[in-house]
Amino acid sequence: MYRNARRQGTVQDSMNATMNPNKALWEKGDFTRIADTMRDSGEALVRQLGITGGMKVLDLGCGDGTTAVPAAQLGADVLGVDIARNLVEAGNRRAAELGLTNCRFQEGDATDLRGLSDASFDLLVSIFGAMFAPRPFDVAREMVRVTRPGGRIVMGNWIPHDPTLVAQVLKTSSRYTPPPPDGFVSPMTWGVESPVIERFGVAGIPAERVSFLRDTFTFNFPGTPAAFAGVFRQYYGPTMNAFEAAEKNGRATELQRELEQLFESQNKGEGSTNIPATFLRVTVVR
Ligand SMILES: C[S@@+](CC[C@H](N)C(=O)[O-])C[C@H]1O[C@@H](n2cnc3c(N)ncnc32)[C@H](O)[C@@H]1O
Repeated sequence: MYRNARRQGTVQDSMNATMNPNKALWEKGDFTRIADTMRDSGEALVRQLGITGGMKVLDLGCGDGTTAVPAAQLGADVLGVDIARNLVEAGNRRAAELGLTNCRFQEGDATDLRGLSDASFDLLVSIFGAMFAPRPFDVAREMVRVTRPGGRIVMGNWIPHDPTLVAQVLKTSSRYTPPPPDGFVSPMTWGVESPVIERFGVAGIPAERVSFLRDTFTFNFPGTPAAFAGVFRQYYGPTMNAFEAAEKNGRATELQRELEQLFESQNKGEGSTNIPATFLRVTVVR
C-alpha cells in the first residue's frame, strides 16, 4: 500500500515537472552544490537586514537555505519556500542537522503563494530566487500580498550585461540553449530598475518605496576555477540545459572552454577559487 502510494507520488512528481518547465529546470540539477560555495555571503547579507528574535521571515526561492538558515540563527521564525522538491528536502535536512526548530522549508511557487495568508511576514527575502519564476507581475503581487504593511521585501537579482560571473554564465548558457518559447520574460529583467519599479507599482507600491543598491556575493570553492566550472556543468540547471543542447550539435567542448576561461578570468583566489559577483539588491517597503 505504502509502496504504491510512493510510486504514484513519484509518477505525479515527474508529470508535474514535465508540465512545469520552471520546476523541472531546478529539480534537474542539485543547486546545493553551488549553494555550498555561497554560505559566507548569505550570512553577511542576512546580518545586514536588521533581523530580530521572533521576526517572521519568508525566504522565497530559498534553495537549501543560504539565507533562510542564518536568518533563523539570528532568532527569526523562518519559512523557506521553493519550487524544487529536492532543495526543500535538503533545506529541511540542514535545519534539522543544525537543530533549528524555527526554520522549515516547503514546496511552493512564487507566482502563486496559495496557502500563505495576506500580510503574514515582517520580511520577505528572495536572493536569486523569485527572479527565476515566470510571470514577474504575479510574483511581485504575491510578494506584496504576503508581506505586512510596513514590512520589507529584499530581493537579490543578477544584472543583465554585467561582466561578473553569474550574469556571464547565464548569458553564455543561453547562447547554447534553444530559444525560449514566445512570451518568455527573461529573469534578468529583475536586475533592471525600471521593470522592477513597474512590477511593484502594479502591485500597489509607489516608486519611492523601492530602492536599489549594487552588492556583491562571493563564491568560495575549494578547488580550481575549471573544477568549479565543472560543478556548474554537472549541477546548475541552466548550464546543464546548455550542455545538453551543445552536446547534440557538437559544441560541448567549445562551451566547456568558454566557461573555463570565464571562471579563470573572474577568479581572485590563490590555491582555491574565490569569485565575487555583482547583483542588484532591491528593497521594498510595503
Ligand atoms: C539560484 S537558486 C538560489 C537559491 C537560494 N536563494 C540561494 O541563494 O542559495 C534559485 C532558486 O529559485 C528557485 N525557484 C525558481 N523558480 C521558482 C518559483 N517559481 N517559485 C519558487 N522558487 C523558485 C529554484 O528552485 C532555486 O532554488
